[in-house]
Amino acid sequence: MLVIENLNKYYGTFRALNNVNLTIKKGELFGFVGSNGAGKTTTMKICVGLLKADSGRITIDGNEVGKNTKLLKRKVGYVPDFFGAYDHLTSIEYLTFFANAYGIYGSSAEKLCEDLLALVNLTDKRNNEVDGLSRGMKQRLCLARALVHNPDLLFLDEPASGLDPKARYELKEILKSLSAMGKTIVISSHILPELAEMCTSFGIIDRGVMKLTGTMRDIQNATNINQMPIAIVVDSKEEETVNILRELPGTQYVRPLAEGRIEVNYAGGRAEEVELLKILVSRDIPVLSYGRMEGSLENVFLQLMGGPGPQAPAQQPYPAQQAQQPYPAQQPYPVQQAPQPYPAQPGPQQEVINR
Ligand SMILES: Nc1ncnc2c1ncn2[C@@H]1O[C@H](COP(=O)(O)OP(=O)(O)OP(=O)(O)O)[C@@H](O)[C@H]1O
Ligand SMILES: [Mg+2]
Repeated sequence: MLVIENLNKYYGTFRALNNVNLTIKKGELFGFVGSNGAGKTTTMKICVGLLKADSGRITIDGNEVGKNTKLLKRKVGYVPDFFGAYDHLTSIEYLTFFANAYGIYGSSAEKLCEDLLALVNLTDKRNNEVDGLSRGMKQRLCLARALVHNPDLLFLDEPASGLDPKARYELKEILKSLSAMGKTIVISSHILPELAEMCTSFGIIDRGVMKLTGTMRDIQNATNINQMPIAIVVDSKEEETVNILRELPGTQYVRPLAEGRIEVNYAGGRAEEVELLKILVSRDIPVLSYGRMEGSLENVFLQLMGGPGPQAPAQQPYPAQQAQQPYPAQQPYPVQQAPQPYPAQPGPQQEVINR
């Protein structure tokens, strides 16, 4: 569906993209991950034709970006990271304006726009001026706008950044259902656990260089599991455990967390992991659970970026570190079926992909 080959982009003398290569198959929900300034927005803008690359080639369904612009505009939808203001247009007028721009008029436009407003949960704001919507509402309206022409390929640049937890959950459900309709979606976000949960493949970019691409399994396989922290949960004696861990020569970094959970970066492989547990038990530490943390997207990303592994900051005396929960709690919202926005327009895009 989307093939990026040897993409390079300079801003003046600064090289923002360095030979980026990426292939995304039809129906993928692709999570684009990278630190601030890594090159995600630049890549997306080039893909949608808003920026010109210095070299390289992008094809969407075999059509080269920059050549058949009219066709590609029909195929591609884009939600930018910043949403411009639209004076004195209501939400429904705003969507209708874009529907008209794509050649959809009259009752078809009316139905489509109402369905899209319902999809992004903004029906009750249909007559409110866009300027008066909150940031999160504007983001959702912008997503509806990007869907007006029923594109096959959607680029969403940090669409969840201004959303409250409920709206984020709903966005995730909308994206999953769009993906189930066969749309290909590229989404950038810094909320890695959410990306990990919904995306089918990932790309990690760092200072313009695509470091890793593939499924979660591919990404986990490519990382050094021995560098993942060991997570220990103790029933009591947290402080004593932390002190024991800090005395051990193999310990690189200890993170005391909440409710008896301690994470430790410990040098070595499986044998050392077993030894460490023996030491704790021999010192009478009531260990409730113990094990190497999995290569979650967040862990893999941090490992690739050089922390908080061996390069982690200097240790703080216990318990100076603020207790943190590394994993977000399960979302409390019930699973809802997102409304389907395109019942009136059957076409090849309606094909459901069973995954
Ligand atoms: N118009 C511009 N002029 C000069 N440099 C730019 C311009 N746009 C982006 N850059 C630089 O290119 C690099 C990549 O920026 P980009 O916006 O693509 O990053 P990003 O991965 O989207 O970051 P973020 O997560 O903060 O949105 C950054 O170093 C940025 O400063
Ligand atoms: Mg960006």
